[in-house]
Amino acid sequence: MTEFRLTQISDTHLARRLNKLTANFECLSDHIDTTRPDLVINSGDMAFDAPGSPDDLEFARSLHDALPVPCRYLPGNHDIGDNPTQAGPPPSHPVNEKDRQAYLAAFGDDRWRFEAAGWYFVGLNSLVMNSGLLAEAEQFDWLAAELASARGRPVALFLHKPLYLDAPDDPELAASAIRYVPPAPRRRLLEMLRGVDLRLVASGHVHQRRDYSYRGLRQIWAPSAGFVISDKRQERIALKETGLVEYRFTPDSVEVRHVRAPGMVDVDLDELLKPSSRAEKAAS
Ligand SMILES: [Fe+2]
Ligand SMILES: [Fe+2]
Repeated sequence: MTEFRLTQISDTHLARRLNKLTANFECLSDHIDTTRPDLVINSGDMAFDAPGSPDDLEFARSLHDALPVPCRYLPGNHDIGDNPTQAGPPPSHPVNEKDRQAYLAAFGDDRWRFEAAGWYFVGLNSLVMNSGLLAEAEQFDWLAAELASARGRPVALFLHKPLYLDAPDDPELAASAIRYVPPAPRRRLLEMLRGVDLRLVASGHVHQRRDYSYRGLRQIWAPSAGFVISDKRQERIALKETGLVEYRFTPDSVEVRHVRAPGMVDVDLDELLKPSSRAEKAAS
């Protein structure tokens, strides 16, 4: 295969009670049906809040199962819980093995590697990083073994959280610690990747669309396919809109297109948290 068309969706945050997010997913689904990429990757937060409401994971899986193309998944903090950080308050729901197992049962592997169009694709569970869970150490061991066979091919890395804001040495700040891979595992990961031809890092999580490069390494922040977060809740770094990202990989290059599926709406998180949405929940 000399061309590989990949669609990244992210942060769909599905829940049976949140009809507006299901409507956005249906727009996405129609667009995928029309464009028929070779693969869809959801880079995490498939569920609105699985640790608090396990049915969200099941509902999200059922909608993804209806997509007409193959899919791969990575966990988000709203699927399996969040990373412990050095700065800022501890997460309200830290990542743990029980929730990780529930994710594995619903969506399959939380890390993967495959090859297409001359590229080497790696997907990682970014939430176990800095957790001290056995799964964190196992993943690093697994990654070391996988990278040993990359053999000069360009590498594309997918994970839920961006590695950093602008540069690898960015400090962990209390106000934004939950947004990025924590510094200690970030350093370890970047050290391991130094030996391969890393060209692309694609993430989700921030609910903002961004496309920038750090010393030639392209970094794509996929927007949420579900909702945007207002400026009063979250600083504006890039573009706040719902949508998706389309990639076309050929043996030595990648094209990136930033896309909104027809009909997608910029649902605001505040709308979802209003009492009327809670009434919807009670009614369902
Ligand atoms: Fe999210
Ligand atoms: Fe997230």
